[in-house]
Amino acid sequence: MTEISFSELSMNPYEKIGKEWMLCTAGTEGNYNTMTCSWGHLGSLWNLPTAICYVRPQRHTKAFIDREETYTLCFFPEEHKKALGYLGSHSGRDGDKVAAAGLTPVHEDGYTYFAEASLVLVCRTLYQAPLKEEFFRDQAVMDKNYPGRDFHDLYIGQIEKVLVSE
Ligand SMILES: Cc1cc2nc3c(=O)[nH]c(=O)nc-3n(C[C@H](O)[C@H](O)[C@H](O)COP(=O)(O)O)c2cc1C
Repeated sequence: MTEISFSELSMNPYEKIGKEWMLCTAGTEGNYNTMTCSWGHLGSLWNLPTAICYVRPQRHTKAFIDREETYTLCFFPEEHKKALGYLGSHSGRDGDKVAAAGLTPVHEDGYTYFAEASLVLVCRTLYQAPLKEEFFRDQAVMDKNYPGRDFHDLYIGQIEKVLVSE
């Protein structure tokens, strides 16, 4: 993979995250976990290139993101969409789902990404907070997305590295 600057990145985040999906991964060799995410943001905050991902409390991956300084967001060519579907419907609690999905983890400097990815954002968590019932200003959005009141934690990460496939 080749490193580029965030300014060189050109994409539609709504399509890329919402429609193509991404993997959010934290941890290192022998002790990492990953999950599919289709909710997130990319942009500018505190004069830094930043990404936000949203993780429900019951996800196994959450403990890894909570524990580690960095997490990665990986985007893939269309041919790997089935693998993302698998990783978004199986838990790392129940076995080696990455092997089952056929992806190849690459472990580097305290974070993990996947060899098949076309784009990797290495993010250092700057801020973490749970969404809260009392702060919703649209009751219908809350009721629709949180019938079990299992509110996501959001993780604002500084994008420290952007890697693209060669
Ligand atoms: C297309 C798709 C998008 C998803 N997006 C999110 C998301 O943004 N946040 C989240 O908490 N879970 C999301 N999930 C659910 C997790 O990926 C799923 O529960 C996964 O199995 C969790 O794995 P884990 O228990 O190993 O962490 C999504 C699932 C799919 C299939």
